[in-house]
Parts: sequence; structure tokens; C-alpha cells
Amino acid sequence: TATSRLTGLRFTITAGPTREALDPVRYLSNHSSGKMGFALAAAAAAMGADVTLISGPVQLATPAGVKRTDVISAQQMHEAALKAAVNSDIFIGCAAVADYRAAEVATSKLKKGSSEQLQLNLIKNPDIIAAVAGLTKQRPFTVGFAAETNDVLSYARKKLTSKKLDMICANDVSQPDAGFNSDQNAVTLLWQGGEQTLALQSKAALAESLITLISKQFSNKSTT
Ligand code: PMT
Repeated sequence: TATSRLTGLRFTITAGPTREALDPVRYLSNHSSGKMGFALAAAAAAMGADVTLISGPVQLATPAGVKRTDVISAQQMHEAALKAAVNSDIFIGCAAVADYRAAEVATSKLKKGSSEQLQLNLIKNPDIIAAVAGLTKQRPFTVGFAAETNDVLSYARKKLTSKKLDMICANDVSQPDAGFNSDQNAVTLLWQGGEQTLALQSKAALAESLITLISKQFSNKSTT
């Protein structure tokens, strides 16, 4: 039946933004609401899968049957994601992880100085999904997202290869009715030797199709 199709399959899904502290009252972040990742978690759980959701700071209720871990920063998400990934069959990185964080986090509030300019010194965060896909033991089937505003499919294909992913969802985030914070989305799912475009629809409906396509590709790969 539809509800028990994925029984026994273990998913780890990341969702939402990360926050990178600058001082005790300020941070760097992005517009991710968590809606897409939570919809994926809800869809997989509704199909009977065992789902761990690792979420950045969002305003969303935990979907039924989903085990949730909340984190704030990319470094925290990295640690939680790797811990869960090694006990998963399928890992989906839907979170909008900050690529950079402050090189130094001020311990007290930064004061406004007399200068008209302020330089922020940033350092690279770990690439979570590349670390998961690079596991040599207990590596899950790894699916990324690529949020792009231009040359969407070619940048997504590059990320599929460079991060050594099994599949990637190319997400054009230049469209006002799709992507970040919208209730709807449209993506093209890409893999080595194939692709499928899913037109603009609710994130719930899209998530159901994505989980079905991802699970199908996972079982093809596991049996070959
Ligand atoms: O949360 P919503 O408001 O519903 O919006 C959904 C979404 C637009 C955030 C989502 O559909 C999406 O596209 N998520 C990926 C956002 C992103 O940061 O993409 P990216 O192209 O920068 O990253 C590529 C991949 O690497 C992603 O799987 C990302 O999770 C991962 N990554 C990136 C940086 C990093 N340090 N670690 C990572 O794991």
C-alpha cells in the first residue's frame, strides 16, 4: 500500500537555514523557511520510512512520525548530520547551509565605530553533503539540492559531480513563486544518465514525487 511502501528504509533529511553568529545579538543567514525539507520528511514518513530530520531554526511543526534534531549553525548541523548519516540508507541535504561563518565570533556586542566601513572576515564552513557522500564506510545514498539563480542545470550537474552525489535537485530560486519560503516549488532531479523535471506544484506534492523517484533510484542502485 501507499503508506507502507518504504517500511524499513531509513532517511536522514536536513532542512532550513543555518545561522552563523557574528556577536551575541547578530548573525548571517538566508531565507530558507524549512518548508521543502519538512515536506520531504513528511512524505517519506507517510510512506512508512524511518525519518530523522535535522533542522536549522524554522517556524514549523514536526511532521507526524518524524524524529527531529534542532541545530543552529553549520558546524552543529555538520556534526548532527554525520552522526545520523552513517545509520541511514538515504541522505537528503535540503538545508541552505551557510558557506561561510565569521572567523571570530565577538563575545560582546560589536560597537558602531566612527568608520563608514566595516570589514567582516569570513571562513569556510565544512561542506556537509560532500562529507556524507565521501564516507568510505556506511555511506548512504546521497541526494543534494542546488539552489541557483542562473545556468541552473549546468551548475547543478557540476555539484552532482564535484560533491560525488547520487542525485541532485536543481532548484531555480530566481522565480518569485518557487524556492525559498514559497509554498510551491519546481525542480529538475538529475543523476548520472538521467533527469526528470517536476513542474511548479505544492511542496507537499513535489516532495511525494521526489521521495518516490529517489527511493526508486536507490533500489535500482542497491540491486545492481
Ligand atoms: O526551506 P525553503 O524555504 O522551503 O526553501 C527550499 C530551498 C530553496 C532552501 C531548497 O529547495 C534548496 O534548494 N536547498 C538547497 C539550498 C542550498 O544551500 O543550495 P546550495 O546550492 O548552496 O548547496 C548545494 C548542496 O550542498 C545542498 O544540498 C546543501 O544542503 C549542501 N551544502 C552546502 C553548503 C555546505 N556548507 N554544506 C552543505 O551540505
